[in-house]
Amino acid sequence: MSTVSTEKDTVSTLSDSIQKTPRPLQVAKRLEKFKTTIFTQMSNLAIKHGAINLGQGFPNFDGPEFVKEAAIQAIKDGKNQYARGYGVQELNNAIAERFKKDTGLAVDPEKEVTVTSGCTEAIAATILGLINPGDEVILFAPFYDSYEATLSMAGANVKCVTLRPPNFAVPINELKSAISKNTRAVLINTPHNPTGKMFTREEMNAIASICIENDVLVFTDEVYDKLAFEMDHISMASLPGMFERTVTMNSLGKTFSLTGWKIGWAIAPPHLTWGVRQAHAFLTFATSTPMQWATSVALRAPDSYYEELKRDYMKKKAILVEGLEAVGFKVFPSSGTYFVVVDHTPFGLENDIAFCEYLIEKVGVVAIPTSVFYLNPEDGKNLVRFTFCKDEETLKAAVKRMKEKLMRK
Ligand SMILES: Cc1ncc(COP(=O)(O)O)c(C=O)c1O
Repeated sequence: MSTVSTEKDTVSTLSDSIQKTPRPLQVAKRLEKFKTTIFTQMSNLAIKHGAINLGQGFPNFDGPEFVKEAAIQAIKDGKNQYARGYGVQELNNAIAERFKKDTGLAVDPEKEVTVTSGCTEAIAATILGLINPGDEVILFAPFYDSYEATLSMAGANVKCVTLRPPNFAVPINELKSAISKNTRAVLINTPHNPTGKMFTREEMNAIASICIENDVLVFTDEVYDKLAFEMDHISMASLPGMFERTVTMNSLGKTFSLTGWKIGWAIAPPHLTWGVRQAHAFLTFATSTPMQWATSVALRAPDSYYEELKRDYMKKKAILVEGLEAVGFKVFPSSGTYFVVVDHTPFGLENDIAFCEYLIEKVGVVAIPTSVFYLNPEDGKNLVRFTFCKDEETLKAAVKRMKEKLMRK
């Protein structure tokens, strides 16, 4: 037997050892504290246990035919190469038209609208383009998980003001005390994930005057603006003196039940759009061309589309809220979004994560623990979030399982 190793042997030995040696996972320090997102974790558990997923906020029904047809047509028409960096002109125009209709504000589609890969990229481009390391940014907890991670990537200091049940009102005095000379921005989300709270006009006015007084920017995430059930949505940019200091972020996903398309946008005055576009240029540069064309068609949907969307969701919401109450949860009022938050403590589990694990494994229903939406997880330990962006049969089946298997302690 030959003892001379050939180059081929050496290569295969090396690649074997690469495959077999477990390597420590590596991540940059700024992302070390962030784990796999809770949505992925819960969706994986749901699959494993055959549980009904009322956790992650994606519809289990499809988006409208006229929007899907528009995407197919755009692809067939050859709209398939890189788009203009800040958006296909037709879409920038449609976004500006929609914003005018919704807020009364006339924005320049060429200078004040930037198309991004979902609202997630609008958030990233806004933060990375306008926040310096060491700047303070104020979040309202509970908050959507990408805010904190993206602020961390930007080297920002995160400060938190907590919205507490039952009505998750904004504690204006706490906000005033949180502001310092280093505060660069306040990030708000209305209608609000996970609570379904909608910021009232009084709260918006109070936040606006604090921001004007202290020369602070507002970044506002309005992805659920068309899912406003109990009151009218108010855009921060439409308040007196606020457009000049506001970046309004939104996307197609929730409004058109097409969360996989990831077309979003940021609207801001030219001096803020500059920073957003500088970051966007190097994050993604441009986003999917045919989907942008289709989104321009979507945004010009007749009013009847939006009315029907709300009607459908209100029926779904009634099924879930009435069901959860009948099961024995304390359900907090939700004015917008497709989420409701409940107090799980009547069922005797020690915290939200233990409750959600029990719910998946023993009852066969997925909810999202809310402690992951807080800087201090203790603040969310009694609360879990359910979504009603599912067809009525699915919602009824989930309620039935909970009625049968979930017992108050
Ligand atoms: C509050 C909030 N902002 C942003 C997003 C992400 O939006 P997009 O899918 O357009 O990136 C979500 C998705 O769940 C959300 O709930």
